[in-house]
Amino acid sequence: MPFKRLIPALAFLTVLLVQTVAFAVTPASGRNGMVASSEPLASQAGVEILKAGGNAVDAAVAVGFALAVTFPRAGNLGGGGFMLIRRASGEAIVVDYREQAPAASTRGMYQDAKGNVIPHASTMGARAAAVPGTVMGLAMAEQKYGKLGLARVMAPAIRLARNGFTVRDSFAQSIRSEGVLLQKFEGSRHIFLHNGKPYEPGSVFRQPDLARTLSAIAKRGPQAFCTGARARAIVATMQKYHGLITRDDLEHYQAKLRAPLLGHFRGFDILTAPPPSAGGTMLIEMMNVLEPLDLGTEHSYSSIHLIAETMRRAYADRATYLGDPDFAAVPVAGLTSPRYAAKLRDEILAVPPNAPVQAGEPQVYESGATTHFSVVDAEGNAVANTYTLNGWFGCGVTVEGAGFLLNNEMDDFTSKPGAPNLFGLVQGEANAIAPRKRPLSSMTPTIILRDGKVRLVLGSPGGSTITNTVLQVLLDVLVYKMDVLQAVASPRFHDQWSPDLLTFERDGFSSDTIERLEKAGYPVSFRDSMGDCEAIEIDPQSGWQLGASDPRADGKAVGY
Ligand code: DON
Repeated sequence: MPFKRLIPALAFLTVLLVQTVAFAVTPASGRNGMVASSEPLASQAGVEILKAGGNAVDAAVAVGFALAVTFPRAGNLGGGGFMLIRRASGEAIVVDYREQAPAASTRGMYQDAKGNVIPHASTMGARAAAVPGTVMGLAMAEQKYGKLGLARVMAPAIRLARNGFTVRDSFAQSIRSEGVLLQKFEGSRHIFLHNGKPYEPGSVFRQPDLARTLSAIAKRGPQAFCTGARARAIVATMQKYHGLITRDDLEHYQAKLRAPLLGHFRGFDILTAPPPSAGGTMLIEMMNVLEPLDLGTEHSYSSIHLIAETMRRAYADRATYLGDPDFAAVPVAGLTSPRYAAKLRDEILAVPPNAPVQAGEPQVYESGATTHFSVVDAEGNAVANTYTLNGWFGCGVTVEGAGFLLNNEMDDFTSKPGAPNLFGLVQGEANAIAPRKRPLSSMTPTIILRDGKVRLVLGSPGGSTITNTVLQVLLDVLVYKMDVLQAVASPRFHDQWSPDLLTFERDGFSSDTIERLEKAGYPVSFRDSMGDCEAIEIDPQSGWQLGASDPRADGKAVGY
């Protein structure tokens, strides 16, 4: 056969080979439990606890403390978050351990005398830190829903802090990229920089101060964090760097139990986080709008158009209506009402692409640097937990002598109406700064059920993009019928209404489709990557637990 005639056959074989390799990438699998997190040692810590007889909550608490050691850019003791728990009994709860504004904070605290927002004031240094909630939240989850107790579940984190762990390339890179911030504050410089330089991959990174803090919490409970030596250390660091957190703020802080939001989509039930996260409310609002629509093929012009228009409306509502429900009246029932969604849908179908959008009127329908991990166990319990320091390494300040970083979550409040925050979000009155108020969040830990059984557990970091990441992974599984790893890997796009941009992951979309969207009126932009979704799917037929850690990052799903 002449060589020319062989070429098509060779090309076909090459395509077949590439496809076989591509599809050989399968989710991690397990039957007795699964942990998906952004850092492999933390996932292993969770599996260690499952093997020791712990349930999904025990394992989740172990992962939360381990990430504070091995993934310090986002894992934390000095931040806050939301843990969504679905127990095998059917009970579902959210532990809200979002940070809280110090009592001395004021609504204009990040503006100068002329009313302009002071650059970096709400993101850098101790004044950007809100009162941390993580230790109180994880301890509350363990005490109420765990089996093994804090001392056992914290053992892997204490070991990793005391004995150290081998630095991976991504860890070294994260410190290099935030070196300027960490260099500014003595406690952070001392721990994260070695003679002024980041630790090299392959070296061992030990955190003795953090090990002592963790051991004290393991022995004496969360009191060891918010009173006594650790509280004194936090206050001394605040005084040194002009922060506002006092002993009274620390003692006053409480994690809160809240009812999850419940939505429905094509026969599935959606459990997700309520305010002070905006994420769950917006997710249900968007799923309601999209439910009856023909979404065609994934990433086609018409599917992107319909989903982007839905995103724009939900983000406009976020900016206007959402805030801490203990301080502002948040019209959650209206925003998540199917009748409100029908009105938004009619409008989307009636107007041209990218027509101006205002926040809607949901009241009419009223009746009444983050990381995510997902855990399931053999008994049917499931946990979706997203927690954060906000920016990578938070405000950059490490509590001296106690070994942990503080958040810069004050930036999630409205520093000034109309002024964009770190994630470009413009926010409203409902999210103005007030003493002891919790800043609005986008974190969207979510669990999907079918006929009362857990089907999918997921969430992601990514600031304002979080909710849209969760939305797209859900649509990929529930509408486009992908497996969990395909869904997590699939390219993403994002529209947050303001700034007026439709943003795509670079190289993930057909240039024809993007051209058509641009011609239709969408200002298009690109970014390298969006989110780090850590998800678990339970196959309804076989009962296998399938874990997917986002290939955009280098976490790991581990099952057993
Ligand atoms: O709660 C929020 O919405 C933000 N503090 C989340 C920040 C975040 O996801 C940063 N990570 N990529």
